[in-house]
Amino acid sequence: MKVIKEINRMRSVVKDIKSQEMSIGFVPTMGYLHEGHLSLVRESLRKTDVTVVSIFVNPTQFGPGEDFKEYPRDLNLDSEILEREGVDYLFAPATDEIYPGGYKTYVEVHDLQDKLCGRSRPGHFRGVCTVVLKLFNIINPDISFFGQKDAQQAIILKRMVQDLNSEVKIEVLPIIREEDDLALSSRNTYLNQEERKAALVLSKSLKEAQSMIEKGQRDSEAIIKKMREIIEKEPLAKIDYVEIVDMDKLNFVARIEKEALVAVAVFIGKVRLIDNKILRTQE
Ligand code: PAJ
Repeated sequence: MKVIKEINRMRSVVKDIKSQEMSIGFVPTMGYLHEGHLSLVRESLRKTDVTVVSIFVNPTQFGPGEDFKEYPRDLNLDSEILEREGVDYLFAPATDEIYPGGYKTYVEVHDLQDKLCGRSRPGHFRGVCTVVLKLFNIINPDISFFGQKDAQQAIILKRMVQDLNSEVKIEVLPIIREEDDLALSSRNTYLNQEERKAALVLSKSLKEAQSMIEKGQRDSEAIIKKMREIIEKEPLAKIDYVEIVDMDKLNFVARIEKEALVAVAVFIGKVRLIDNKILRTQE
């Protein structure tokens, strides 16, 4: 595996791959890799000729009081892991390589960026869209792989490529979970033992939503009420949001007809965790 830090070098590698008519699979990450990231990497290795993974902790997607400085980083360990998986290129640029002095341009996906996580993290998706489009422009992938863990991110990025006529195909893969159902996240490393246990309320509330659907419940308010009760029983948990929305515009759905996205964001102590599930009725 080659580790590349400069945009110019990455571009010349990409040019070379394209000249050989090979397809490029791309997995953007912020590093501190876990099995969730690796599920995307493996799919890229399966589906495309050359796999590029990026590791870049993107400052523009963190708000003022957020964890940009504390975000866990271990580039050496991540490189070893990716090498073992058989990844071809790791693109790991420095902050000023991506945002040099005088940087002024940002990408916004209106409305969608203000829903769910966007409400408590203003500017977050503007940062995500900007960096992902920049990375797409540098790497020029045929397919880019994202996780359903960040459902809103995937929906927004699909909208972005469609609206801006990008030819990158976005594939979204299922959430990878621990054995006890906690969704894997680099931020789980912030949790102490007690918080780690408390964090199970997220997946527990989502499972309850699913089981209410299976028993015939279609009323979102009733499901949300029950989910809130489950989460509020946990003293370390503080709800940011519990919402049931459509998968296109992310608008509230009052009655679940075919499918809907149930999404939660909960503070466990100081750590903000997110999780979601696609609810499907059997009709
Ligand atoms: P990061 O949080 O590192 O996640 C990188 C990719 O891994 C995202 O597509 C995310 O949805 C996916 N992922 C994370 N946890 C997962 C899990 N448990 N199961 C499946 N996939 C999972 O998301 C970002 O970085 C950044 O916003 C980024 C897109 C790189 C832009 O900076």
